[in-house]
Amino acid sequence: MFENIEITKTSKKHLKQIYDLYMSILNEKNTMWTVSSIPTVKSLKQSLIDSKTTSFVARLNKDVIGIVVIKKYDGRRSHVGEIGYDVKNEYRNSGVATLLIKNILKELKKTNIKYLIAWTADYNEPSKRMMKKFGFRKAGKIKNGVLKNGKYYDYILFQRAL
Ligand SMILES: CC(C)(COP(=O)(O)OP(=O)(O)OC[C@H]1O[C@@H](n2cnc3c(N)ncnc32)[C@H](O)[C@@H]1OP(=O)(O)O)[C@@H](O)C(=O)NCCC(=O)NCCS
Repeated sequence: MFENIEITKTSKKHLKQIYDLYMSILNEKNTMWTVSSIPTVKSLKQSLIDSKTTSFVARLNKDVIGIVVIKKYDGRRSHVGEIGYDVKNEYRNSGVATLLIKNILKELKKTNIKYLIAWTADYNEPSKRMMKKFGFRKAGKIKNGVLKNGKYYDYILFQRAL
């Protein structure tokens, strides 16, 4: 574990560094990501800084090295939130995502969210491991929902009650 990791609520001042973090993951040689559109700092502002989003960043020496985001759905699904998490490559497997998820789960107690869901590609072993570690259960899948390097993989839906 890295010392001096600081977990704080995501704010506008972190957006540029979050953008850099996402781009570094997108540019990984064998990226695990399944994003449908490439973010911009402007699109991140719209998606991260709004009343339906709860998000924390992990910072090391003021640099954003990880992020967790929960997006609350609307209307009759407003008791459901979708979680996503990302950590810079060089800081993985040291408990950063675990720390971020623990923090956001505490924060969720202040909201009306009753269920969390998450989507992950079947090839994403670290992400599936995170799901299991935090008590998510497989709730369904889109068969062959992800195409990676010319091969189809299932897109798995996980769910957990809070
Ligand atoms: C998924 C991700 C956020 C995990 O972040 P992290 O900070 O490395 O996670 P942690 O160190 O807290 O925990 C990692 C867990 O995954 C396990 N893990 C790490 N690498 C693994 C691998 N290649 N295969 C299987 N399990 C792995 C670790 O053993 C650990 O489990 P444990 O605590 O039970 O031992 C990180 O790998 C990542 O950013 N990946 C790229 C982006 C991504 O895929 N995001 C999720 C999209 S659904």
